[in-house]
Amino acid sequence: MSKVDIVVFGAAGMLGSDIMEELRARGISAQGFDLADGDITDAASCEALVARTQPRAVINCAAFTDVNGAESHREEALRINATGAGNIARACAAHQVRCVFVSTDYVFDGTKDSPYLESDEPNPISAYGYSKWLGERETAAAAPNHAIVRTSWLYGVRGRSFPATILAAARAGKPLRVVNDQTGAPTYTRDLARALAEVALMSGTGIFHATNGGACTWYEFACEILRRAGVTPVALEPCRTAEYPTPARRPANSRLANVRLAAAGVPPLPPWPDALDRYLAEAGQLAGRQH
Ligand SMILES: NC(=O)c1ccc[n+]([C@@H]2O[C@H](COP(=O)([O-])OP(=O)(O)OC[C@H]3O[C@@H](n4cnc5c(N)ncnc54)[C@H](OP(=O)(O)O)[C@@H]3O)[C@@H](O)[C@H]2O)c1
Repeated sequence: MSKVDIVVFGAAGMLGSDIMEELRARGISAQGFDLADGDITDAASCEALVARTQPRAVINCAAFTDVNGAESHREEALRINATGAGNIARACAAHQVRCVFVSTDYVFDGTKDSPYLESDEPNPISAYGYSKWLGERETAAAAPNHAIVRTSWLYGVRGRSFPATILAAARAGKPLRVVNDQTGAPTYTRDLARALAEVALMSGTGIFHATNGGACTWYEFACEILRRAGVTPVALEPCRTAEYPTPARRPANSRLANVRLAAAGVPPLPPWPDALDRYLAEAGQLAGRQH
C-alpha cells in the first residue's frame, strides 16, 4: 500500500496550498513539496521524491507564473514549466503514478469567438503560454496515465490575486482603470482544488478544462468585487487592452468549455459570482471585516 495517496508539487503556492487543504479535509493522505524540498528542474530530485513517496497520483502545480516576467526570462520559464513538467511526468511514469498537470487558458490565442474546447488547437501568444503548452506536451509524451487540467484567472486567499489588488487599491483611494476587452472565467482556487482532487482520483486521461461557471471581462469582475465587498472606489473606468500595454500579450477570449470534466462525472465548478462571494467572506474582505 502507498505511504502517501497524493503528492502535490508547488504545494506552498496559491493553488497548491488549497489543494493540500482539500485533500486533508477529505482524509486523503497528502504530501506537499515546494522549491525548498527540491527543484523540479532537477530530474534526479523529482525521481527521488516520487520514489520515496510512491503515491497513487501527483498533482503538478509548481510553475513559473509571472506572465509578464516570462517575456524577459524565457529560458527560466521554459526550464520550469516545460522541462520541470517533463521531469515530474517521467518520474511518475517510472513508478506507474498518475500525473496531473495544471495548465492555462494562455495556451490559446483568444481569437475564437466561442468557448475553447479541450480539442481546440493551442496557439500561445506569450512566452508563459508557450512554456505551459510545452509542459502539456512533455507531460502527455512521458506519462501514459496523465491528465492536463487547464484553468483560468485564478485567485485565492493566499498569494497575490486580482481581487485583493483591486480592493487594496480602491481602499487606498486610487482611481482604477481595468481592461474590458478580455473575457474569461475568474476561478477560485478552493473550487479548482476540489475538481483537481477528483481528477487525481479518477482514471480518465487527456485534457480537461476546469473553471468556475460563466464569464466576464476583467472590468466586470472588478465591478463585482467592489460591489459585493461593499467598497466604493473613487473612480472605476473600463479601458481597452491597447491602452494598458503589458510585456506579455493576453488572449481576448479566455473562455474554456468544461466539456470533458462533465463527461467524466466531476461536479461542475460553481458560477464565478458565487465563488467570489465565498472568497470575499473567507479572505475577510467584506467591508468592515478586513483582517
Ligand atoms: N494564477 C493564475 O491565474 C493561473 C491561471 C491558469 C493556470 N495557472 C497555473 O496554476 C498553477 C498554480 O498557479 P499559482 O497561481 O498557484 O502559482 P504560484 O502561487 O506561483 O505557485 C507556484 C509554486 O511553484 C513553486 N515553484 C516555482 N518554481 C519551482 C521549481 N523550480 N521547483 C519547485 N517548485 C517551484 C513556487 O515556489 P516559489 O514561490 O518559492 O517560487 C510556488 O510555490 C500553475 O501551474 C499555473 O501555471 C495559474
